[in-house]
Order: sequence, then structure tokens, then C-alpha cells
Amino acid sequence: MDEEENIRVAVRIRPLQQGEASRGETSCVTAGADGREVQVRMGPLDAHIYRCNRCFPPETTQQIFFDDCGLKDLLDSAIGGYRACAFAFGQTGSGKTWTMSGPPEDRGVNTRALDELFIKTAQRAAEFVDTITLSILEVYNEDIHDLLVDSKHAEKLEIRQAENGIHVPGLTLVAVQNLGNVFEYLQIGNYTYQPEPIHTYVYTIVFFKSFTVLTVGL
Ligand SMILES: Nc1ncnc2c1ncn2[C@@H]1O[C@H](COP(=O)(O)OP(=O)(O)OP(=O)(O)O)[C@@H](O)[C@H]1O
Ligand SMILES: [Mg+2]
Repeated sequence: MDEEENIRVAVRIRPLQQGEASRGETSCVTAGADGREVQVRMGPLDAHIYRCNRCFPPETTQQIFFDDCGLKDLLDSAIGGYRACAFAFGQTGSGKTWTMSGPPEDRGVNTRALDELFIKTAQRAAEFVDTITLSILEVYNEDIHDLLVDSKHAEKLEIRQAENGIHVPGLTLVAVQNLGNVFEYLQIGNYTYQPEPIHTYVYTIVFFKSFTVLTVGL
């Protein structure tokens, strides 16, 4: 990927689910051979082609996606003192949660990135003292919830814009030393992967939509 680009787009195409395949459905999205092109079939004779930084076919493993999606460069930027953000965008059921969080036995990019961050900061421990902090918030029906606080005691939070960027006053910030710590907090935050059966997606769209933001401070 080109080092100087501020925004990079990685497209990941998920495999067909068992139910989809057994109904005879086929994927309408394919990755181009050069790894930088996505083809979206619009009709029998019509396809749109989009360019992106990287496109990953359905057989891509969590490890390959993490290694090649550009996140490692993003981590280097963060360690170099820049703000960095990775976010997943896509229609419901397209694989955002799988890619970001993933199931415990096949983790997604968020904890892999933290793992890498612990390794990289340990490597420079002789020159820099790095403190890694974590906060987890959820935006649900436009209300902001602190996922590290017991919901019974949680007060409503608000987003504020300050000189040094956007922040959420009152949001719990915890220091983490290793991946074990992170998993403890992710569990408190109930930030664990819960596979959702495809048929519930329609209800998801109609009744609620939630967004979870995991922030790492360095
Ligand atoms: N790369 C993948 N390999 C295997 N299964 C996948 C992959 N990506 C997604 N899935 C499966 O596809 C389904 C939908 O994925 P996921 O729940 O991550 O979608 P989502 O984009 O987070 O949807 P929503 O917006 O509704 O939260 C899940 O059952 C998930 O396990
Ligand atoms: Mg999801």
C-alpha cells in the first residue's frame, strides 16, 4: 500500500453462509485478480468495478487480513504519535463484527492490533514509557453508554469537541498492560462476538442499530 495515503480502503468479501449456499444463492461481489479491484454484479450483463487499496476474496483468513489490510502501518502511525482510526463499514450481515472482533478462537483485527501494539511498545521500552489505555463505548439509539460501567450505574454521556479533538467526558479509561487485561475488560464491556443468525438482520435494521467504539490511548 502507498505509505503517503491518509485514507485506505480494504474490501473484504465474506464467504456465503451455509443457508445462502443451500438456497442456491451466489455471491454478487468478486475480487479482481490484481487484489485492488472489486466487481459488483448488478444484473446478468452488467457489473460495476470499483478500485480500492486492497480487496480480499472470501477465503481470506483473519491472519492474512490483519497482515495485509494496512492496519500494521496504521499502528506504526499511532506509535509515531498520529491519531489513527480503523472502522468497518458495510451493510448488515456483511462481516463487520467478524472482521473487527471475530469469535474467540479466530480473533479479528481489534485484539490482533492491540497484541501488536504491546509487542511494539515493549520493543521501544528502553527509550519510551508508553501507557496504553482503553475505553469502550456504545452508541445505541443515539444514546452513549460506557460499556466499562455497570449499566445500572451508568449515567448518560455526551460527545464534546475540545481543542485536542472529540472526547466523551466521564468515559471510563483503564490502563492495560497485556492482552489478558484487554480480554478482561472486553468481557466486562460485553464486547464479545455473538454470531447473529441471518434471519434476524431484518429486525436489526428496523428496530435498533448500535455502534461500538473501542478506543486505545497511547
Ligand atoms: N470472513 C468470514 N468467514 C466466515 N464467516 C463470516 C465471515 N464474515 C462474516 N461471517 C459470518 O457472516 C455472518 C454475518 O457477519 P457479521 O455478524 O460479522 O456481520 P455484520 O456486518 O457485523 O452485521 P451487522 O451490521 O448486522 O452487525 C455471521 O454469521 C458471521 O459469522
Ligand atoms: Mg455486527
